[in-house]
Amino acid sequence: MSGLTIAELAIPASVDDADAGDFIEMTRVRNEIEADTVGSFDLSCTPRELLPAWQDPDEPKRLFVARVAGRIVGRAVHEVQIGEEVKSAWLEVEVAAAHRRRGIGGALFDTVAGIATGEGRTILQAFTLHRADAGGPRLDSPTGYGSVPRDDAGARFLLARGFRLAQVERMSRLLLPAVAGDVPPPAGYSLESWAGPTPERRLADLAVLNAAMSTDPCSRTTRSC
Ligand SMILES: CC(C)(COP(=O)(O)OP(=O)(O)OC[C@H]1O[C@@H](n2cnc3c(N)ncnc32)[C@H](O)[C@@H]1OP(=O)(O)O)[C@@H](O)C(=O)NCCC(=O)NCCS
Repeated sequence: MSGLTIAELAIPASVDDADAGDFIEMTRVRNEIEADTVGSFDLSCTPRELLPAWQDPDEPKRLFVARVAGRIVGRAVHEVQIGEEVKSAWLEVEVAAAHRRRGIGGALFDTVAGIATGEGRTILQAFTLHRADAGGPRLDSPTGYGSVPRDDAGARFLLARGFRLAQVERMSRLLLPAVAGDVPPPAGYSLESWAGPTPERRLADLAVLNAAMSTDPCSRTTRSC
């Protein structure tokens, strides 16, 4: 596509530094793309909130931005966990709605996937956001829980590149302030609370819950960067 450039973005030491302008612009574009998908800015971060994740030495990341006429219109993330034995990478590609279906997402993907494969990584993982009310055919999760809209741009994009769905995560929204007693549990659930040691009759359930929370995707979402 003519006029398109893709370049690595240097992470500033502080959002107050003179060279933080690109990071600030990238954050705005990131927030707008994600709000366009989910329908609100609930997941947005300020550049100051986002920066620490980009400076975390335990989860090294590289950030690439696509520009058209000098303005950022998309971004790609390459993220790994440290350790010689780690053969996987997390990739993320986002393109502003007004600039899609012109090959920008594909070019960003090729940039970060090329780095991952060049490093000998054999497992590429990605995360997409979807609206719960999207219609059309579904792609079922192999875990047996949940599904995503098969024809969403993100699902199509990843399926076309050989990805397959591994797991679905649901985001729920609770308007605050709320106190536990005021929150109506969803159908099929009841709410329990206690102070102090866990009651004997709940110990086994709590052990199952804690084990699940260490393997379910709750700690690893696209929100981190
Ligand atoms: C998924 C996403 C990154 C794709 O970005 P994009 O810039 O539209 O990507 P491309 O243009 O390279 O490809 C998208 C589609 O446009 C088509 N296309 C590419 N160039 C085209 C052109 N010149 N004319 C018409 N169609 C074109 C591609 O074949 C592809 O078709 P498909 O939707 O049937 O698979 C974008 O929709 C997005 O940001 N979604 C939200 C974030 C997300 O889900 N990311 C997923 C990866 S983590």
